Amino acid sequence: MILKNISLGSYNTFGLNYITEFFVSVKTEGEAIKIFKSAGTIRQPLLILGGGSNMLFTGDYRGTIIHPEIKSIVIEEKNDEYVVISAGAGEEWDEFVGWTVDNGFGGLENLSLIPGTVGAAPVQNIGAYGVEVKDTIVKVRAVSTENGSIREFDKNDCIFGYRSSIFKTEMKGKYLVTRVFFKLAISPALNLIYGSLADEVSKLGGADLKNVRAAVIKIRKSKLPDPEIIGNAGSFFKNPVVDFSTAEALRKKYPQMPCYEDPSGGIKLAAGWLIDQCGWKGKVSGSAGVHDKQALVIVNCGGASGTEILNLAEEIRKSVWYRFEVELENEVEVISSI
Ligand code: EPU
Repeated sequence: MILKNISLGSYNTFGLNYITEFFVSVKTEGEAIKIFKSAGTIRQPLLILGGGSNMLFTGDYRGTIIHPEIKSIVIEEKNDEYVVISAGAGEEWDEFVGWTVDNGFGGLENLSLIPGTVGAAPVQNIGAYGVEVKDTIVKVRAVSTENGSIREFDKNDCIFGYRSSIFKTEMKGKYLVTRVFFKLAISPALNLIYGSLADEVSKLGGADLKNVRAAVIKIRKSKLPDPEIIGNAGSFFKNPVVDFSTAEALRKKYPQMPCYEDPSGGIKLAAGWLIDQCGWKGKVSGSAGVHDKQALVIVNCGGASGTEILNLAEEIRKSVWYRFEVELENEVEVISSI
């Protein structure tokens, strides 16, 4: 059913109360096929919106928002070593992760408590605490928004990168993810390389799936604001990757600057550290602010407009450029009113 003039307040984690002209929730893959077979009759432009945990609206949306609510978790294949699970795009990400951990299937535990839905996870290749979702994805099933045909994208077809995939680049807006297939381990090798994770896990009684999930939840809660309480979309910017000589020059000037080798051959810097050094942590500008425990997170202190949040992001970007000559790129997708 196509609804008209729907508030987006509960569909974006910044809690911005803009209106969308049209809104369609899709409960089954069959419904998605039907809708997109007659795509010509839908008011364009289309926007696919999962949990809205990585989007910043700057005004009302003049077009159609498609909200996938496809549910169900299916064990597709199981043997002594691994299990292949498929999950509907509309499943809540963290509930799904909780289910995998409760069933003893390993691979997603480090991605606990990330807001959003299963369908959005491959789109931006969510990652945290040394793991990216691409590490476990075997296949993504999707429906063409242009003609309603089904296409299955193998892992390699997805062209996963840091917070990126084909669904955010070449195929942006062209496919609606309906199901994601994960290969999870029965006797998982736990990944505890990130910072304080190993310490937290041992405090909880030792390394097992449940303790890793509990430790990740504890660390996230200590650093990141709960969008149910204070509007935010997690990291506002990506961690920038610079070339080796730029990193070396910065390291000479700022020996304490965190940097990590990036698979691309460049050096990844911590955007949170750069922003923090510019004095932004905990600063408030009007109704928008920078989280006091993690400078990479911009928060809606209450009643902020999307433009206010965007303007603050712009100020932050400028000051990081001015001080370090490093360009920050948004992780959050900005949806401008049209
Ligand atoms: N740092 C500061 N000040 C700050 C924030 C960070 O000095 O205000 C320093 C930290 O001390 C650390 C470094 O910067 O040395 C990196 O910080 P942290 O480990 O907290 O991680 P991050 O790089 O800020 C990334 C992801 C997060 C993910 C964490 C943990 C991106 C853009 N962000 O943050 O993902 O949870 O690592 O793996 O890659 C998200 O994508 O929304 C997100 C929250």
